[in-house]
Amino acid sequence: MLVSGISGLADQWYAVARSDDLAGGGPLPIRLLGSPYVLWAPAGGGPVLTQPYCPHRGAELAAGCVRDERLVCCYHGWEFLPSGACTRIPQLDSGVPLPRKAILTTYPAVVAYGLVWVCVGTPATAGPPRFAEAEEPGWRVQVDFLELWAASALRILDNNLDQSHPAFVHQGTFGDPARPHVPPYTLQRTAGGFRADIPQEVTGVGPQMGVADVSTRFRRTQEVELLDPVHTRIRLRYQGTAPDYAFYGSATPIDDDHALYVRVSALAGSEAEQPYAMFWEHSRQITREDQVVLERTNPDFPLDLTEEVHLRCDKTTIELRRTLVGLVSGSAGLRAAGGSDHGTLRVAGG
Ligand code: FES
Ligand SMILES: [Fe+2]
Repeated sequence: MLVSGISGLADQWYAVARSDDLAGGGPLPIRLLGSPYVLWAPAGGGPVLTQPYCPHRGAELAAGCVRDERLVCCYHGWEFLPSGACTRIPQLDSGVPLPRKAILTTYPAVVAYGLVWVCVGTPATAGPPRFAEAEEPGWRVQVDFLELWAASALRILDNNLDQSHPAFVHQGTFGDPARPHVPPYTLQRTAGGFRADIPQEVTGVGPQMGVADVSTRFRRTQEVELLDPVHTRIRLRYQGTAPDYAFYGSATPIDDDHALYVRVSALAGSEAEQPYAMFWEHSRQITREDQVVLERTNPDFPLDLTEEVHLRCDKTTIELRRTLVGLVSGSAGLRAAGGSDHGTLRVAGG
C-alpha cells in the first residue's frame, strides 16, 4: 500500500524541521503527505503551520516574510497572526472591517527534542512520541539528521525494525554475512506498538570503542520498540562493557516515494566516554548503507500479510504491518487476511 492509501497517517505527528531552522522566523515551505504547507514562527513564539497559499490571490506564503508576530504575504502585503487571522490589509482604509474569509487554516505544531513536529490531521496523540532516554539525566541528546530520501517512509520505518538485513547491508561496518542468523526473540505489544529485546554479538567497531578492534566481540541487547505507528526507538545495552546508546527513527512521509528520514540520538555518559563525533562517523556510514538499498525498494508496502513471505526473525516487521493496518479506513478485510496473532500466520523458521 502506498502512503497515500493509509488515511490514518495524517493523524500522526511528524518532525519537519530542526527548531534552529526557525531561528529567523522563516517562513519555510514544507511538504507532507503529498501536500504543501508553510512553517513559520512569530518573534519570541512557537512554530506555526498553515496552508501554503494566500487566500487573496494565491501567492505562496513561504515567499513572504515574518515581521514581528505576523506572516506577511509577498504579493499585496496582507498580514496574518499565528492564529491564522488576518490582522492587516494595507489596501483597506483604517476602520474598514477585514473580510471574514481572510484567514489561514492552521495545524498543530510544537517543538520537542530540537525538532519541529506537526500534525495535519486530527492528532491521534496529545503530542510527539516520548523519547525516554532523551528525558533522563546523564544522556546527551542530539539531532543526527533530517534528510530527504527517495524512499517510502514505510520502508524506512520497516528497515529500522528489521533484524536480518545487517549481516548483508552493513558488511562495511558491523555486519557479517557469515553470521546471518537472528537469535530467537520474543515480542510484547505495548500501548503504542510493541517492544522486542534481541541479544546480539558484534565486533568491537562500535562507536564507543573508538577502535576498529575486529578481534573483540561484544555482547549487547538491542531493545527495539515501535513507539507508535510511525516512530521507532532502538537502545543498545552493553551491560557495563561499554556505554549504552539509543536512537529514535522517524520517517516523515513527503509523498508516496519520498520521506524525510529523521534521527535523534541519545548517548550515555560523558563526551570523553562516548565522543559524539565518533558515534556520528560510524552511524553515518551505517545509514548510508541502508539508504543505498532503501532508495531501491518498492514504495508499495503491502499491509496484507498474505502478500509477502515472512520468516520468524521478521516478527518485528510483521508487527509493524499489523499496526499500520489499524490506520487504514475500512481495514477489516486486511486484518482478516493477516490473521490476528502470530499463531495464525504461517512463517518459515529462521
Ligand atoms: S496574494 Fe497574498 S496579499 Fe494578495
Ligand atoms: Fe540498517
